[in-house]
Amino acid sequence: MRRTVIAAVTVLIASGLGALAQANDPVVQRQNLMKNNQEQVRALTGMARGQAPFNAATAQAAFQRIAQNAQQIPGLFPPDSNRGKTAALPSVWERKTDFDARAAKLEQDAKAVQSGITDQAGLQAAIQRVGQNCGGCHESYRRKES
Ligand code: HEC
Repeated sequence: MRRTVIAAVTVLIASGLGALAQANDPVVQRQNLMKNNQEQVRALTGMARGQAPFNAATAQAAFQRIAQNAQQIPGLFPPDSNRGKTAALPSVWERKTDFDARAAKLEQDAKAVQSGITDQAGLQAAIQRVGQNCGGCHESYRRKES
């Protein structure tokens, strides 16, 4: 009985530490951030296609979130984080200055497009301009899915 309790507590502590380590792992953090980017783009695309009602403020907020996310990108690729289950290519660290500049460009564009979102067509143009930054960076720095 006592041994079972100790074993259970040990498992609890171990899994708690595991979750903590994950939360602090830059690989997990940047993948979660990128997933959030994807969610924003999906919502924006749905709105541009009329699947959700057009709402300029909602669209602007999504781009603002993308801009905030972009600001965090450089810091989530520290020198020792090219390991584990990552799709980031070694080129990230070989050309970190260019990589960081692309994150800055995404932030800039995601801010700049917001004032032009007055209708669906404006939204479509905004998505295209911002989306090029996503694809462009992935092309050079993210492993292609096999
Ligand atoms: C500065 C470069 C850069 C920019 C800009 C960028 N990404 Fe990424 N993205 C990456 C890299 C590198 C990875 C791989 C991260 C890893 O696995 O460690 C990635 C991974 C992803 C993933 C997969 C996440 C997962 O589940 O593992 C998605 C989805 C994604 N990006 C969406 C986006 C979207 C949408 C945008 C634009 C709004 C964007 N990204 C902009 C570099 C970038």
